[in-house]
Amino acid sequence: MDTTIQLVKMATERSPEEIVPFLPDVFQKRIRQDAMDADPANPKRVFHMGSWAGTTDEDPFVKETRTFNEGALIWKSFFERENMKTVIVFSGAGLSADSGIPTFRDSGGLWENHNVEDVAEHEAWFRDKELVLRFYEQRFNGYKDCKPHLGHEALARLEQKFKVVHITQNIDDLLEQAGCSDVRHLHGRIRSKKCEWHKDITTLDGDRKFVCDFKAEMIEPVKLGELCPKCGGQMRPDVVWFNEAVGNLNYDEMKDWCKEVKYNDGIFICAGTSVQVYPAGYMVSFFSQVKNKFIVDRKPQKIADYELIEGNASETLPVLVDRLMS
Ligand SMILES: NC(=O)c1ccc[n+]([C@@H]2O[C@H](COP(=O)([O-])OP(=O)(O)OC[C@H]3O[C@@H](n4cnc5c(N)ncnc54)[C@H](O)[C@@H]3O)[C@@H](O)[C@H]2O)c1
Ligand SMILES: [Zn+2]
Repeated sequence: MDTTIQLVKMATERSPEEIVPFLPDVFQKRIRQDAMDADPANPKRVFHMGSWAGTTDEDPFVKETRTFNEGALIWKSFFERENMKTVIVFSGAGLSADSGIPTFRDSGGLWENHNVEDVAEHEAWFRDKELVLRFYEQRFNGYKDCKPHLGHEALARLEQKFKVVHITQNIDDLLEQAGCSDVRHLHGRIRSKKCEWHKDITTLDGDRKFVCDFKAEMIEPVKLGELCPKCGGQMRPDVVWFNEAVGNLNYDEMKDWCKEVKYNDGIFICAGTSVQVYPAGYMVSFFSQVKNKFIVDRKPQKIADYELIEGNASETLPVLVDRLMS
């Protein structure tokens, strides 16, 4: 099959993100133009999209106007998104506080008279698995019925105008519930469980016992005795504990985002995190050369020339988002 036809076929079957890297410039330009002109009510435009791609009247693609139409619209939304500016939102426990999930610090840093750091740390697991599982059972049950607040919803609204990437330290899924589409969880997710010997676990001493690859969605809290079907290890929550490395921070991707927001008039928002802990402090200095940047917190700390927005996330974020959207 002709390569161009193949590409058009791919365009209707795969996402533009997968295809664009293979397209020559001139081809991209024409698709861009036709996609922008595409009119769902007028299939002729869509026929036109087929004709430049080297098809003929006999070509089966030309007759599939509906498929072409859909293809054109997919391209259109892709190019519209491509032209959008980028917003990076980095968030911590304070973002979820107004939904009824207390931050560790606000809860006095204590749980059943234990320091939270002592139950949410790598070594605690090997000291007392039942205690750690009980702590996470309470987290799971406490988070289960929480709903996003106006601040989460405002952040979701940003996607009407910007490409938005969320990098969050939170293990809840309130951003996803609010409709945010790209959320990276640095510290894992409360609704996921993994084997205690999972290869994602990188301890600071580089222990090599962690080789299993079993993970599953968590419907009910993990119980002691629930074993990994692959290796027989005890299952545990799929979260990153103190003294375990934050594995899923992709530095190359971060550099690209930083360049994008810095040179393309993008925005960086740091919301509800104390900035004293890694990687929060690191992120704030990493994005400090960006022009439009904000720290949103109940008690924001002055850092470089960040604009500080003081108050509860459910009240301050809707105001900030309205400002950015206008
Ligand atoms: N929702 C969750 O998933 C959740 C909740 C607690 C802890 N954790 C985990 O524990 C780690 C450490 O937690 P931590 O509590 O020490 O975080 P932290 O100290 O980094 O964050 C708390 C920050 O939120 C601010 N804050 C509190 N209430 C706020 C509100 N209503 N609006 C805006 N800002 C508010 C505080 O001033 C503080 O700066 C987190 O990074 C996370 O992985 C997760
Ligand atoms: Zn296993």
